[in-house]
Formats: sequence, structure tokens, C-alpha cells
Amino acid sequence: MTAAGGDGRRISTVLIIIAMQTEALPLVNKFQLSEDTDGSLFPTGVPWIRYHGLYKELHINLVWPGKDSVLGVDSVGMISASLVTYASIQALNPDLIINVGTAGGSRAKGACVGDVYLASNVAFHDRRIPIPVFDMYGIGSRRTFSTPNLLKELNLKVGKLSTGDSLDMSPQDEASILANDATIKDMEACLDVRRTYACNEIFCTVFPYENYGDGKQWFKEMGRPASQLTSDPCFRDKGAAVAYVADLLSVPAIFVKAVTDIVDGAKPTSEFLQNLVTVTAALDQAVSQKNLVAKLISRLTE
Ligand code: ADE
Repeated sequence: MTAAGGDGRRISTVLIIIAMQTEALPLVNKFQLSEDTDGSLFPTGVPWIRYHGLYKELHINLVWPGKDSVLGVDSVGMISASLVTYASIQALNPDLIINVGTAGGSRAKGACVGDVYLASNVAFHDRRIPIPVFDMYGIGSRRTFSTPNLLKELNLKVGKLSTGDSLDMSPQDEASILANDATIKDMEACLDVRRTYACNEIFCTVFPYENYGDGKQWFKEMGRPASQLTSDPCFRDKGAAVAYVADLLSVPAIFVKAVTDIVDGAKPTSEFLQNLVTVTAALDQAVSQKNLVAKLISRLTE
């Protein structure tokens, strides 16, 4: 595999998804993006906002879910993130999604305020469904798109990311985050989870239930021809692995998250508000740095 698309495509169009205006605007300025004003991209009435522009050779689209129309606060959380991501992919056909945002960090796992992480895995921590197989579905653990060489060039930490719809952390969430082995905790990384691509080995997710064991049953259920099972290196190499994916849209995604608060510390929520602006500056610097853009333009995975 040579480029981010997993099919040899070079990256030409990047979709950056950001939940909060404070996080988005510095990047809009840095990349000199302009706001889409014709309103034809998204359904009428939604608050979603797209900024776009050409930066070096990249078509950059930054989409922000906007403000809640009643309460006027940023539309954070998994529902908005999923909806804008879906709609943006349909409209823009990006080669790569970058979800940029802030996160809570685990001190026990070595996170400090201001650290910027690239997520190696994503999983949910507040979708508890204690019924066999549904439990795994609820956790929805996935590996993200692997970019070892990007990582080598950038000064980022790597850690597992756990996603939920709350800023604070209930004891049950805490137990799930621990079980997910997560270093960072956010509210948006759900966005690629149903969309990773079966044929891309980097996205392969082991689904270790017996009835899915060799992939045949899963392929049957998905209505896919059995011939794909053997022709697809993902399945060939992994043997019993089955990627639990909706491969309809097949766009790779990476997650860049800066730590605003320590979740196993004394005051995570107030720390989040206090640190949002300064930590966002570090985050935006990481995302707009020369090496990252250069890697995107050349070959992300080399
Ligand atoms: N974003 C920043 N801090 C967070 C936290 N503690 N939980 C979820 N998302 C966050």
C-alpha cells in the first residue's frame, strides 16, 4: 500500500472534522480557508459550516458542526460528529479524514496537559450492552489508519483513544476506559468507526466470535461474493480475522488530539475550560506543521 486511500490513490482532498469553533478558527486562518456561503453542500437548516481552500497541493475542507440552534453552544458529541462526517464524505469524497480536537488524558498512562496524540485505536466507553456479541459491538474497538512514517517525522505521542458523549467520567465509564486501555478520552472519534474499509489491512479488526471465525459467514451476511474472501489480502493474511466494517464509503481517518485536562486528576472539567485556548494553539500548530502537510502531499504511509 502506497498512499492513504489504501488503493494507491494520492491524497488530494482532505476533510478535517473539528467539533469546537475555538479549535477550528486558528486552522482556518493558518490555511487561509474561506467559509462556504452558498449553502448547497448540506441540507437546509443545519448549522454545519464548511471552510475550504487550496493549501500547497491539498484541497482542504474543514467542517465544523456549528452551534446548537437553541442553546448556542458548539454541537459537540458523537451524534453531530457522525452526521457531519457522513454528509461531508457524501458531498466532498475526501481521500483522508483528520479528526482534530482536544481530549482528556490519563495521568496514569503518562499524559500531560498540552501533549498532542495520534490515536492508534479507538473504542467507545459508554455503550454498555451486556449481551454476548452486542457487548463487543458496543465497545466497537478499531485500529485507526496506521501512519508510522508520519509519526516518525512528527513530535506526537501515540495512545489509544476512548470515546463517549460525556465530558466528565462516571465510575462505569472509568472502568470501560481502563478496559479499553485508553490514554486519551474524547467525544467525537466515533466518526470513522462504522466506516473503515474491509479491504484495507490496516483497518482490519479481529472479530473473534466463532460464527464469524473464517469470514465466510460474515461475507454471506454482507452479501459479498466468497471470491473476495480469498482475493482480499486483508482476509488472506489474517486468516480468522474479519473486519467488521461498513465498507460503503471507505475513507481512512486519523485522529490528532491535544490534552486539555487530566481525567484522573482533581478537576478535569474546569481544567478543560481553562486550558482550551492555549492547548488548541499547540494542537493547531501540530496539524499545520510543514512536515505533516508535506507527508500528506507525498505518501502518508511510507
Ligand atoms: N475533550 C477535552 N477533554 C475531554 C474530556 N475530559 N472528555 C472528553 N472529551 C474531552
